[in-house]
Amino acid sequence: MQRKSSWILVCAFLCLSLLTGTAQTAGKTTAGKPVDAEGHQWWQHAVFYEIYPRSFADSNDDGVGDLKGITSKLDYLKDLGVDAIWISPCFPSPQVDFGYDVSDYENIDPMYGTLADFDTLSSEAKKRGIHIILDFVVNHSSDQHKWFLDSKSSRTAEHRDWYIWRDGKGPSQPPNNWTAIFGGSAWKFDPATNQYYYHYFYAEQPDLNWRNPAVKDAMFDVTRWWYKRGVSGFRLDAVDTLFEDPNLHDNPIRPGTNVFGDPVEESKYDTKLPEVHEALRGLRKVTDENNGVLIGETWTADIAELNKYYGEGNNELQMPMDFLFTTVNKLSPADFRKQIAAVDSASGWPTFVISNHDMARSYDRYGDGQHNDQIAKLMAGLYLTLRGTPIMYYGEEIGMKTTPPTRKEDVKDPIGRTGWPKEKGRDGERTPMQWDESENGGFSKAAPWLPVPATAKTHNVADESKDPESVLAFYKKVLKLRHTNKALLDGSYVPLNENDQNVLSYLRTYKDQVVLVALNMSGAEQKVNFELGKNGFSSAKSLVATGKSSSKGDVVTVEPYGVFIGQLLK
Ligand code: NOJ
Repeated sequence: MQRKSSWILVCAFLCLSLLTGTAQTAGKTTAGKPVDAEGHQWWQHAVFYEIYPRSFADSNDDGVGDLKGITSKLDYLKDLGVDAIWISPCFPSPQVDFGYDVSDYENIDPMYGTLADFDTLSSEAKKRGIHIILDFVVNHSSDQHKWFLDSKSSRTAEHRDWYIWRDGKGPSQPPNNWTAIFGGSAWKFDPATNQYYYHYFYAEQPDLNWRNPAVKDAMFDVTRWWYKRGVSGFRLDAVDTLFEDPNLHDNPIRPGTNVFGDPVEESKYDTKLPEVHEALRGLRKVTDENNGVLIGETWTADIAELNKYYGEGNNELQMPMDFLFTTVNKLSPADFRKQIAAVDSASGWPTFVISNHDMARSYDRYGDGQHNDQIAKLMAGLYLTLRGTPIMYYGEEIGMKTTPPTRKEDVKDPIGRTGWPKEKGRDGERTPMQWDESENGGFSKAAPWLPVPATAKTHNVADESKDPESVLAFYKKVLKLRHTNKALLDGSYVPLNENDQNVLSYLRTYKDQVVLVALNMSGAEQKVNFELGKNGFSSAKSLVATGKSSSKGDVVTVEPYGVFIGQLLK
């Protein structure tokens, strides 16, 4: 079916931007920071890539990935079009939560290598123009951290108040009704000092007491320490949870139980307290002194909440992740339009994510089981062409699928054992990177810590590098375009055809450059008349398109689940 385009607002917008020669730019930039002509800093033009270090590349064949493994893949990342890698926690850790339980913030877990290996990774990355972002677990440490070991040693210990200790409400009764997100009470009784300590996550992850200035200073110093070692910034873990109500009010209870059998709680008193923002402003100050960037794990309910994380005048997080985008869990142009418009109107620079180590991979969330490769390209065509910075997740570029364990006894992620079978844990999205067809997908010569999915035979870097139609080849094309096309880098986002239920289309406009993106979210071919002639353009020159997607005159034809990205010509 051929449909007409709706340009009314677009035209007004384009005329205005052509006349003024301006493009909508990011929020304010910080004085003294290197910016380009549009006031953009490096991270606004960069493509970020999350590496789960256990699963990326194993250099010493012990079945677990490591830093030397990452170093060996820097050329691959550079060639792919990655500008910054965010490494999930690689610090010493008992690995209860696979690194999110840090026992020393200023070192590398021997399983991943040494500080010298980190320095090599850092200098090799720098040679290739790749920035390193570390994952800073700010809310809690491991219960094996020396601060906690001291804290629990006595009620008068130097670090006692570095964590949150309280008396029980009565015999065998925790201080209040708060539950841990990973199941059970959020309070663990410690018989040695006859008090409970608070943990929002596992009991092995006691919450740091951010109300104690010494904690704040120590954590700020950790970032300084890594900045000196050359990192470009941090992804801040679980920022919502930094503070709790000091009066320990009970959370309101809703009907029903969760996957762990706990009552469903409204997290009114244990998350998103206003004090979080003061802490973030402090971290940002240190970040600015070191020319860094802060990415936030920010689970926001709406854009007003997201805006709070940018802060007044952009003085908190430069890149709070827009997870609302990941809640659009179906190929619905209307739903995506709504969410893109919302984040595009936010007070800071958008940050788009479609997969990570805590959620099923986008390949399966959007895939229909038959056209997953096309749909993987479609999703790349979407989040890599929006105004904002994308954060990729390793393996997304080759179409890795989520492969959850099928038996409880195989589960590695503890929540998958406590929550089985309703909650199978997060192993499925953390399987080893699929490098080639060889045993263990070329990840390791030893048995990997998680099994390599059978799809390594069909979806792997080596094979896809040779196939011009592969998901990987498509990612590379889009990423290459994104790095060189001013409209994609700096241009405004202008939605088109807002009633179209099949094709999500929009313009990216920068001065007189206009790029049209048309994404067919349906399983049938779509022809869209964009009325280019009427709007002063002669045609749309294809820049990147899938299969038979093409344009002729005013009409763009997009194959089922296809992508068309074209430059509008006068
Ligand atoms: C969020 C991390 O992404 C997740 O993997 C971890 O389990 C929790 N924070 C606790 O640190």
